[in-house]
Amino acid sequence: MTNSTSNKMWGGRFAAGPDAIMEAINASIGFDKRMAAQDIAGSRAHAAMLGATGILQTSDVEAIREGLLTVLSEIETGQFQFSTALEDIHMNVEARLKDLIGAPAGRLHTGRSRNDQVATDFKLWVRDQLDATANGLQALIAALLDQAEAGSDWVMPGFTHLQTAQPVTWGHHMMAYVEMFGRDLGRIEDARARMNTSPLGAAALAGTSFPIDRHMTAQALGFDAPAHNSLDAVSDRDFALEFLGAASICAMHLSRFAEELVIWSSAQFRFVTLSDRFSTGSSIMPQKKNPDAAELIRAKVGRIFGANTALMMVMKGLPLAYSKDMQEDKEQVFDAADNLMLALAAMTGMVGDMTANRAALAAAAGAGFSTATDLADWLVRVLGLPFRDAHHVTGTLVALAEANGCDLPDLSLDQMKSAHDGITSQVFDVLGVENSVHSRTSYGGTAPAQVRAQISRWREILA
Ligand code: ARG
Repeated sequence: MTNSTSNKMWGGRFAAGPDAIMEAINASIGFDKRMAAQDIAGSRAHAAMLGATGILQTSDVEAIREGLLTVLSEIETGQFQFSTALEDIHMNVEARLKDLIGAPAGRLHTGRSRNDQVATDFKLWVRDQLDATANGLQALIAALLDQAEAGSDWVMPGFTHLQTAQPVTWGHHMMAYVEMFGRDLGRIEDARARMNTSPLGAAALAGTSFPIDRHMTAQALGFDAPAHNSLDAVSDRDFALEFLGAASICAMHLSRFAEELVIWSSAQFRFVTLSDRFSTGSSIMPQKKNPDAAELIRAKVGRIFGANTALMMVMKGLPLAYSKDMQEDKEQVFDAADNLMLALAAMTGMVGDMTANRAALAAAAGAGFSTATDLADWLVRVLGLPFRDAHHVTGTLVALAEANGCDLPDLSLDQMKSAHDGITSQVFDVLGVENSVHSRTSYGGTAPAQVRAQISRWREILA
């Protein structure tokens, strides 16, 4: 099945049009129409520059400007007819511009190529997405700070190997995620600063003989400078990969937190109650309240990391400069971006709405001999035992408590003395979980005062 008419944009040397299968594999309009606003912004900047440098006459530039605004409004209002035969957003826009304004439309492509055009459009799109992601992360961090502030001194068990380790504070646990999402924010900001150079005017690969002004278009589009090597400018997709890399790490953090929420909201833990707004029911078991949002956030990392891997594989074997393989960049980035934004929004909603069950947290904090380290530290500090010996004495007492079916603070002084006769009743002061968390005042530690200091530091960073 061959289309009898050759392509309007590049078909001069072609006698026949493409096979339907060729058209299907070649076209990107089905997805790159998402870059319509960026494409038109790039074309407007290019046209204005062609006018300012005298490459095009003012009347042509004016017609192009008006025409592009009409095309944009047709796209925004859904009236625009996208055509697969016209392959991509760049040629769809230009063809419609030709319908609207005639001959001047054909002059717009002077001194540029679709290679620098697509790189520019995509960079603008990714840049917007980096900004949106940064906003999403800030909202999530703000929600975590509120949770941390409300429960800066609430005790809960801290875990290693998911076994009770030492008591920590709720605020401290929330602030651990603030640090993680804070690094994600930093990665997004770094990527944005590094990617902000303009490919426009690199043309197909070698630059152009027209006296264009790349500084002018760069400035008009909010770039810091023109990209400095035209070959690199059209074949660089690092900016998309940096976004996907940062998105993957962020999604991994979201997934770890989601996993904790799934565990914490279970009947066995009951550390948190998720709001009805962010839970679902079961169609068969009437009692169920499921943490579906958390489960789906946990799953999103798979597709986001997959997008990162896919684009790395697309790029890894490409010689300079542009190759059509690079058209495969967009769907991966679009999908990862959409899902990351959704995951961030869902997590922010869940965190904002969830209730920490202070009593359940406190009850669990004392279980599992969580103050055994405090006991060992006391033996070192007060009785002068070497830490290894103190560790052994404490282990004996844990075994004794376990055999008696009680917790460490429930042992009698005589039982304590059976492990080491220097132990005095003073020891009971350090066995409470409250004492334990308040004593951990080292920088970044779990003591409420330390947690509050970190909350203030983050509030200042975000302000
Ligand atoms: N749709 C193409 C892409 O996304 C635009 C660039 C086409 N360039 C070319 N030389 N065929 O990569």
